[in-house]
Amino acid sequence: MIVLGIETSCDETGVALYGDQGLLAHRLHSQAATHAEHGGVVPELASRDHVRKLTGLVRAVLQEAGISGTDLSAVAWTAGPGLIGALLVGASFARSLAYALGVPGIPVHHMEGHLLAPLLEDNPPDWPFIALLVSGGHTQLYRVDALGDYLLLGESLDDAAGEAFDKTAKLLDLGYPGGPKVAEAATRGDPDRFTFPRPMTDRPGLDFSFSGLKTFTLNTVSDLKAADAWNGQACADVARAFEEAVVATLVIKCRRALQENGMRTLVVAGGVGANRRLREQLNAACEKLGATVRYPRIEFCTDNGAMIAYAGYRHLADGQAPDLAVRVRPRWPLGEPLS
Ligand code: KG4
Ligand code: ZN
Repeated sequence: MIVLGIETSCDETGVALYGDQGLLAHRLHSQAATHAEHGGVVPELASRDHVRKLTGLVRAVLQEAGISGTDLSAVAWTAGPGLIGALLVGASFARSLAYALGVPGIPVHHMEGHLLAPLLEDNPPDWPFIALLVSGGHTQLYRVDALGDYLLLGESLDDAAGEAFDKTAKLLDLGYPGGPKVAEAATRGDPDRFTFPRPMTDRPGLDFSFSGLKTFTLNTVSDLKAADAWNGQACADVARAFEEAVVATLVIKCRRALQENGMRTLVVAGGVGANRRLREQLNAACEKLGATVRYPRIEFCTDNGAMIAYAGYRHLADGQAPDLAVRVRPRWPLGEPLS
């Protein structure tokens, strides 16, 4: 069994092959350079670039794995959530290819892809576990008991953590993509100069809120500018305080989710999961609890085709038999049917 996975929900074109032997090949084209001059993702440019890149990337993975299209058992694609035009490019391409090859086409939830990404690694974690999904569009905690059995425990009531990183990067003039830029600036920051609030950690529950932190950051920068104290060091110090606040908030809620559910495994997925400081702090907190943390390799933290190929493979093995429709759902809560 070999499944081709196609990811086009936002600004990365990801393509991969997952088979009985594991991951056979994967390729990624990042559109970061295309969108950088606009300071964020331009949906129409994203769709057009996916159209340009998909065929070549699919050919490349087939060649790398030494197989042809007729060896495929199914084609899986990200059906949502994401940008509708970008999703439709991947969905139409994948559905048509599956139809032409006479194999099943499998729509995959983007966040399920992220959530299963740590299972691509050797020695994968066993169910049940707590999953922290931290990306540009989502900050969510799930209890995962089995494939397809995802219970939402808490989520951000406003901005996602990655979105807060991206907006902070813009505010600090650090450029795009924001998360890695803020993280890099933070390494030069003084950890003792500012302390930013840890939103919603002083009350019970597992929800998050990051928009107040964004405003706090904005006000701090405005005050520094008004006092003529804005310079490279101040920028790094603010980046450091912001990162510490986001990381501390995420760590507190993960610890709470593990304790409240009596779980000993935490799985972290999504772009913000690449953050070094977050990993350090989560590792330390879980060690104290006698729990383990599992991450995908760095390149599979952000959007990629491997996680979609893997989720498609698992669903195919589970006997999922979808119909011929080309369906996408730009806003799609995990656990709800596609349509
Ligand atoms: O999962 P992902 O690639 O795309 C979405 O589905 O959103 O996540 C992208 C997000 C962006 O907001 C990006 O700024 C953030 O992940 N990110 C990071 C880091 N690397 C990527 N945030 C903080 N630190 C990082 N090292
Ligand atoms: Zn993503």
